[in-house]
Amino acid sequence: MTDLQSVDNLTEADLDRLIDIENECFTSPWSRSQLASCLNKQRYLCLGIRSNQTLLGFAIFSWLLDEAELLQIALLKEFRGRGGADQLLLEASAQLQTLGINRLLLEVRESNVAAISLYRRYGFTEDGRRKGYYPLSNGREDAILMSYSKV
Ligand SMILES: CC(C)(COP(=O)(O)OP(=O)(O)OC[C@H]1O[C@@H](n2cnc3c(N)ncnc32)[C@H](O)[C@@H]1OP(=O)(O)O)[C@@H](O)C(=O)NCCC(=O)NCCS
Repeated sequence: MTDLQSVDNLTEADLDRLIDIENECFTSPWSRSQLASCLNKQRYLCLGIRSNQTLLGFAIFSWLLDEAELLQIALLKEFRGRGGADQLLLEASAQLQTLGINRLLLEVRESNVAAISLYRRYGFTEDGRRKGYYPLSNGREDAILMSYSKV
């Protein structure tokens, strides 16, 4: 089994691989320019998890004042269930703490049981819902709003 060990900050050199992972993991993936702009912007934290220097997953946060929002987190399918998402969240917490951030926010599709389970395990709690926020092929589904304080 591959070890998921190194988490570090993404750079522009990761962009092509980032796009491949994004396209594999999301039904409505972000565009190249959206992802590229996250890598360049102030107040964005972009982390990657690698094995033998190959990028296997990532997490993107934006932050302002004392709050940060988890915008994206994804791992290639074959590397899920091995603690990689926890490693990304832990490193993000450590870096965000040094910026004075004490609250994390996120929105997640109500059908995304793996992500919701990860967030609950990490300590996120539900704050509310946006009714019908996300499109589905046959309708719409709610967004669950979650937060976690004392990052
Ligand atoms: C969200 C994601 C990063 C989590 O990574 P992961 O490696 O699967 O995380 P974990 O192994 O910690 O699994 C999280 C939990 O979901 C559970 N789980 C995993 N797949 C599941 C499934 N298909 N159905 C139900 N539960 C599932 C795990 O058992 C675990 O439960 P636990 O907290 O009770 O132990 C990963 O699933 C992913 O990349 N998904 C696609 C992108 C995405 O939806 N991102 C989130 C929205 S931005």
